[in-house]
Amino acid sequence: MTMTKIPSLKELVGEDLDNICQDLSEEMARMEGKNLLITGGAGFLGYYLVQAPLHWNRTRSPAKPIRVTLYDNYIRGMPDWLSNLEGNPNLTLVTHDMCNPLPADMGDFAFIIHAASIASPTYYRRYPIETMDSNITGLRNLLNYSLAQKKKGKPVEGFLFYSSSEIYGDPAPDQIPTPEDYRGNVSCTGPRACYDESKRFGETLCVNFAQQHDLQITMARPFNNYGPGLKITDGRALPDFARDVINGRDIVMFSDGSPRRTFCYSSDAITGYYKVLVKGRKGEPYNVGIDRPEISVADLAELTIATAKELLGYEGKLVRKESLDKDYLIDNPNRRCPVIDKARNELGYQPKVLPKEGVRRALIWYAHNRVAEEK
Ligand SMILES: NC(=O)c1ccc[n+]([C@@H]2O[C@H](COP(=O)([O-])OP(=O)(O)OC[C@H]3O[C@@H](n4cnc5c(N)ncnc54)[C@H](O)[C@@H]3O)[C@@H](O)[C@H]2O)c1
Repeated sequence: MTMTKIPSLKELVGEDLDNICQDLSEEMARMEGKNLLITGGAGFLGYYLVQAPLHWNRTRSPAKPIRVTLYDNYIRGMPDWLSNLEGNPNLTLVTHDMCNPLPADMGDFAFIIHAASIASPTYYRRYPIETMDSNITGLRNLLNYSLAQKKKGKPVEGFLFYSSSEIYGDPAPDQIPTPEDYRGNVSCTGPRACYDESKRFGETLCVNFAQQHDLQITMARPFNNYGPGLKITDGRALPDFARDVINGRDIVMFSDGSPRRTFCYSSDAITGYYKVLVKGRKGEPYNVGIDRPEISVADLAELTIATAKELLGYEGKLVRKESLDKDYLIDNPNRRCPVIDKARNELGYQPKVLPKEGVRRALIWYAHNRVAEEK
């Protein structure tokens, strides 16, 4: 595979971080001089969630920087990008499993993002109980902390729980695009239930803590994010395709490719999450994704092939195979597309990166982050 001249990793990531910080000038300014806790920050979304405030500190040099603390159990190891950030005076890394009681002396956090959860269908079906524990017990521990902080006179100013678009299950056709008030069509016993139902119960916990204790809690429902930081071995569609590209072999698709999705590039999504954290209405859920175009998984594979040809001289094609994993497609929704008017109108959220550019950027990132293939 011959590689044409592509932007360096520093240029690619720097551009994304500049865009995120530009869209979040009000929100980042509100967090200056305060402590921000991000659980699960070593994961895919953590990649830009963690780097964005540090980029803000570096490029804007505020009088009082945003101080970021990360709690993660590093179940899949400490990623290189995070090890490279060690030593940053505004970043504290703590090894902590969110299913265990919180450390006794946590300090005072003004903002909390609870993103710790196994998120990949391949992995949460392997660790269903751990997945539920982090979304329910881990969340409950953080809500108790927030209540205690309020009683101490040091209220948490923003608390964001990462829910999921999966809480809608497989929506009825007349509920696509899907607004926040759709109640969902979800199995409570199927192979995906550990994830979907624990996110649903997590939202119920959040709403009731917000109402009963008057706490500033919000929920984000991400719709199919992709981009830098998403491990090539994660088991989600685009990294699977990228892995085939990077290894110079045909792209294998384990379905007929008909399920349709809107794919939201991570720099766009991260602006949405910070807007929900800082400006979202108490006790409210917000869809965060992109509302167009809705494309099939086969379209995504073809787009990946065309982009990889142009960018990396890739010569492979698309082939279809049956998955050896019998549960692979059970309860896999046919269509997934959000209504994002609530975040757009209330918070000024405006995703911009369309799949052509997003897939290009993701492939550049994967080309710079070749990893040994797992069995
Ligand atoms: N990426 C998406 O498109 C998407 C879609 C819907 C929902 N979400 C939600 O967003 C959040 C972040 O997703 P992601 O894609 O970054 O996931 P990810 O799997 O890449 O990262 C999750 C991180 O959480 C950590 N973690 C898991 N269980 C933990 C525990 N018990 N204690 C401490 N750390 C733990 C992992 O080590 C990992 O670093 C998750 O809550 C996920 O359910 C993501």
